[in-house]
Amino acid sequence: MKKLISIAAAALGLVAGAASAQTYPQRPITMIVPFAAGGPTDVIARIVGDHMSRTLGQQVVIENVAGAGGTTGITRAAGAAPDGYTIMMGHMGTHGAAPALYPNLKYDPANSFDTIGMAAGTPIVIVAKKDYPAGDLKAFLAHLKANDTKTNMAHAGVGSVSHSTGVLFTSVVGIKPTMVAYRGTGPALNDLMSGQVDFMTDQIVNVAPQITGGTIRAYAIATPQRSPALPDVPTTKEAGLEGYEVSAWNAVFGPKGLPADVRAKLVDALNKALSDENTRKRLLDLGGVIPEGAERGPEALQKLVESEVARWTPVLKAAGAVAN
Ligand code: MLT
Repeated sequence: MKKLISIAAAALGLVAGAASAQTYPQRPITMIVPFAAGGPTDVIARIVGDHMSRTLGQQVVIENVAGAGGTTGITRAAGAAPDGYTIMMGHMGTHGAAPALYPNLKYDPANSFDTIGMAAGTPIVIVAKKDYPAGDLKAFLAHLKANDTKTNMAHAGVGSVSHSTGVLFTSVVGIKPTMVAYRGTGPALNDLMSGQVDFMTDQIVNVAPQITGGTIRAYAIATPQRSPALPDVPTTKEAGLEGYEVSAWNAVFGPKGLPADVRAKLVDALNKALSDENTRKRLLDLGGVIPEGAERGPEALQKLVESEVARWTPVLKAAGAVAN
C-alpha cells in the first residue's frame, strides 16, 4: 500500500510540476541584482527585465542584494527554489573572477546555475574625477606613478568587475593606489563626481552619461575600437597604453534545476528583449554591446562562463590579487 501511495505522490508531483510549468509564471518574478541600485548591473537588469515582464505577463521585480563583490547576492540566488520565480543578473565578476578571489565561494559559476542568456557586453572605461590634474592618459599614468598610494581607486568589492579590471590596470601600469570598496559602482560614481575618490575602471553603461555630461572625465576605453556611445574617448592603445584591453559582460541565470518549459520561457523572454528596438536603443545608447545570434542563449553563456573562470584565475594571480 505504502509503495502505491509513494508512486501516486511522485506522479502527482510530476503532474503539479508539469502543470506549473505550463501556467508559469503565475506571480511576479524576482531578479536578484548583486550590487547596489543605480550601478551597471542594476541598470542592465532593469532595462532587460522591463521587456521580459511584458513577454512573461508578470512583473520582473529587481531585488538588490549587495556585498562581497556580488557574491552575497549570487549565493542567495543559487540557493533559491529552481521554480523560475527567482533569477539573477550575474557577470564577469560574479561568474568569472570570483572563484579565484573567494576560496570558500559557496557556488560554482559553471555548475550551480541554469544559464538563461547574455544580456549585454560592457566595455571598460578608465574614468577619473573631472578635475584630476592630468590632461590625457599618459599624464594620468605619470601622476598615478608619482603619487602611488596617495591616489584612491574605487571598486564594487573584491571580485567585482570594477575590482578585477582595476587590479589588472594597476598591474599593467605598475601602481598601488589605495583601493576603496563600495556596494556598487553606482555609489562609487557619486563619490567620483563629488571628487571624494580619484578614479576607477568601470563598465561603460554606468559612466557614459556622466562622461558625456562632463561631470567626470574619461581617459580611455579598454577596447580595440572606440565606442559609438563615446566617439571622443580614445582607446587605450591610441592613448599610449599597451596591454590593457578588457570588456565585461552581464548575463541572466537561474538556480540549477529549472523545469525545461520554465527555462525555455525565460530564454525566450530575454531573447525577445534583446530583439526589441526600444530595449536595444536603451542599451546601445549607454555603450552596451548586444549579443547577436549564436552569442545569445544558454549554451553560449555556459561556454563563456567556463572560459572566463579559466581566464581570470591566472590573470588575477599574476596581478597579485590572489594568494598563490
Ligand atoms: C561591478 O562589478 O563593478 C559591478 O557591476 C558594479 C555595479 O554593478 O554596481
